Amino acid sequence: MHPKEVFEKHLAPTSPFPMGVHIDYAKGVYLFGKNGKRYIDFIAGIGTSSVGHQHPKVLRAIKNQLDKHAHVMVYGEYLQDIVLELATKLASLLPAPLSTSYFVNSGTEANEAAIKLAKRATGKHNVITFKKSYHGSTQGSMSVSDSEDKKRNFRPLIPGVEKIEFNSIDCLSSITKQTAAVIIEPIQGDAGVRIPSQEFMTALRNKCTEAGALLIFDEVQTGIGRTGKMFAFEHFNVIPDIITLAKGFGGGLPIGAFIASYKLMKLLSHKPMLGHITTFGGNPISCASALATLNIIAEHFFLTQIEPKGQLIEELLVHTEIKAIRRKGLMLAIELKTEEKVNKLIEYCIANGVIIYWFLSTRNCFRISPPLTITQDEIKEACGVIKGGLDRL
Ligand SMILES: Cc1ncc(COP(=O)(O)O)c(C=O)c1O
Repeated sequence: MHPKEVFEKHLAPTSPFPMGVHIDYAKGVYLFGKNGKRYIDFIAGIGTSSVGHQHPKVLRAIKNQLDKHAHVMVYGEYLQDIVLELATKLASLLPAPLSTSYFVNSGTEANEAAIKLAKRATGKHNVITFKKSYHGSTQGSMSVSDSEDKKRNFRPLIPGVEKIEFNSIDCLSSITKQTAAVIIEPIQGDAGVRIPSQEFMTALRNKCTEAGALLIFDEVQTGIGRTGKMFAFEHFNVIPDIITLAKGFGGGLPIGAFIASYKLMKLLSHKPMLGHITTFGGNPISCASALATLNIIAEHFFLTQIEPKGQLIEELLVHTEIKAIRRKGLMLAIELKTEEKVNKLIEYCIANGVIIYWFLSTRNCFRISPPLTITQDEIKEACGVIKGGLDRL
């Protein structure tokens, strides 16, 4: 059977129009197709391959771990050196009291578990979330995500969720003594890169503390260097009670985490025991990849190069077809005049060897989130193609 036939017949589709690029191999910022074409991966698998594809240090770490052992037990039972090292590294990078990690499989699972932890800790169940938010596609994370279009056919979802305006200090009055948790992306991703004000973030932290609600920062998209800081909350100097990670955290392998104080995390071990369980959580191969990625990003000067690279993209993408660019570090949303123009541009760029991509719900924008290791020359080449596409709109 032709590979396209297998793809269409034996793999469940997620949309009627998949990109359908047939990948042969990937290296650095490049994807190489079976059609012999080279593509600049200007989205890093949606913010995931953050140090590029097949980074030698990540590959070596994965291979070393494979030589020792792969999965040996469910999360939380055995001591495995690589898992201990990753948890230690995270604790060293995060401020107190965020010292204790629970490794899971994905971003949505991390958010599910964070919400469960908030319910367990507060004895309440109401959750506040924000308009245009996206937290994942399983039922709990979907319940606290905005898009009604995506939720309609899956109701009933979890009760007690209230959605308020992002970046509105007035709306914070919805956070009350009945609130278990507030979940927020410190910079909204799927909304088309929306950056809140410092005043809002400070007021949010204060309001949660006052109401006894746990503040969850979903850093699945913003975490591990994407915005020019190791964690996006560092831009605001506001510390959450729980932080969730996934995507770029794994450096290309699947892993998520929710991280809180030891005092909070301990609650998941009793009443009931096994308050969250997951078979593959803390998978040692994924942990090896995550640790190697973290070590690269935490190296001297690595983070300082991210903002200038983002700036360069912004400077290069000056065009009459562009309505706005919203950006922090190498997390960019480029707004065009219509959704049709976005579709046309993405199609042109892929045909001409540059991968850019849609947002799930913000359809008049396209995303750029390249590997953080991308060079100035690679940025110039990719932006040249995008400008060629903009000229043809
Ligand atoms: C902010 C945010 N949270 C959660 C998720 C869900 O992560 P995953 O697809 O790993 O479940 C995503 C994925 O795009 C995301 O951007």
